[in-house]
Amino acid sequence: MGERGAQGPGAVEAFRWWGRMAWNPLDTYGALARRYGDAVRVPFGRNRAFFLLSRPEHAERILVANQDNYVKAFTYRPLRAVLGDGLLTSEGETWRQHRRVVQPVFAHRHMVGFAPQMVDTAAQAVGRWPDGVVLDAAGELRRLTLGIVGRALFGSQLEGEAERTGQALEALQRGAVVGTFMPGATAKRSVYQRVPRLGSALEYLDGMVQRVVGGSSGGELLRLLEESGRFNEAELRDEVLTLLLAGHETTAASLAWTFVLLSKYPAARDRLEDEVDEVLGGGEPKAEDVDRLPWTKAVLSEAMRLCPPAWTIERDALEDDVVDGVEVPAGSTVAVPPYLIHRNADVWPNPEGFQPERFMSGQKHHRYAYLPFGGGRRICVGAGFAMLEATLVLATIARTHRLDLVPGVAVSSRAEITFRPAGVVPMRVIRR
Ligand code: HEM
Repeated sequence: MGERGAQGPGAVEAFRWWGRMAWNPLDTYGALARRYGDAVRVPFGRNRAFFLLSRPEHAERILVANQDNYVKAFTYRPLRAVLGDGLLTSEGETWRQHRRVVQPVFAHRHMVGFAPQMVDTAAQAVGRWPDGVVLDAAGELRRLTLGIVGRALFGSQLEGEAERTGQALEALQRGAVVGTFMPGATAKRSVYQRVPRLGSALEYLDGMVQRVVGGSSGGELLRLLEESGRFNEAELRDEVLTLLLAGHETTAASLAWTFVLLSKYPAARDRLEDEVDEVLGGGEPKAEDVDRLPWTKAVLSEAMRLCPPAWTIERDALEDDVVDGVEVPAGSTVAVPPYLIHRNADVWPNPEGFQPERFMSGQKHHRYAYLPFGGGRRICVGAGFAMLEATLVLATIARTHRLDLVPGVAVSSRAEITFRPAGVVPMRVIRR
């Protein structure tokens, strides 16, 4: 039964698992792990295998210790068709050159400068919410985070584009999962352009990028990209689209999950409101307040443990490797899903419980037991930006308002490229 150290179905049974995977990858990964353990091998094709590895040691080997042996998996091909040579989907020298240009914008000294825009965008959104109204928190938060990346990175006002962008992204996410499981998954944009719904989604996003690049004020990042001289027109388009999409959807999802969890755990919410009141003393938060909001940050971290927006990270092996005792032959695909690693009961006691205390100082866990932003050289370039943004947005909202999930509403999830609440999340806005 497969390579040493991994358990899994035989070839015939694997066929059934693949069928399930195409419909609901997250639940199927969970079911595979429950059935076969934290190192699972599933055969596919004539002589290849897929490995589902959910121990921190697996993530450390694949993403860090032996990262030269791994490239982004074939499962990223539909995403690559959309994002091309942007940072998230490029490899090798192209990736290295892009990362060298983009990374400095996310240096700490720039972050401090972004903070007022983050707070201001959140305060404006909150200011538009009438007391007592029920709104779609997921949609509001997407609008807010798109507005923030637009302003901070590109000097553009994008809030008005949020609804159409959201629809385009939903179409792409669905298309991506189906595309992955089509025979001969391809990275060719033209293939996706020919599918009517995907084609119009791509057209809309391209138009948005053009409005950003062509529009006037530019912003720090656009200036650096253009001045580097390393980007031709297509690469510039790919990078701007990558940063706009990677830079808002995930943060919106993590904030939406945070408000859902806070509605279910009122004691955690009370403590958060107390902390915000005490530290901010009635004023708006600033970058330097973030370190004085440990509970607020712990709430966000714990929400990203239970509901990591980047729920799976996948690579293809170039050469044979041994991953914590599991033999992984060249050509295999490996998944190290944060969603499962964050629930591994060997490292997380009471894994299903929402306990922000785990992230208060003094608590220790394996470095790769918690990896909402990935690891190694392909670690999220926007991790610091995302944490600063999420903390400031959460504090800005909690300072004056409470978002309460409408009683009786069950929030279900969708896991495609990102893990997010499905559809609308109806929450009542209550002025505190
Ligand atoms: C809570 C919010 C976020 C989460 C959970 C998240 C998660 C991740 C993860 C797990 C990866 C690594 C993927 C892999 O190894 O295959 C990644 C990469 C990336 N993220 Fe994020 N991200 C978030 C916010 C952001 C923001 C705010 C930006 C930009 C403004 C951003 C831009 C990127 C880019 C460009 C990459 C590719 C980096 C590279 O390969 O060099 N992300 N993100």
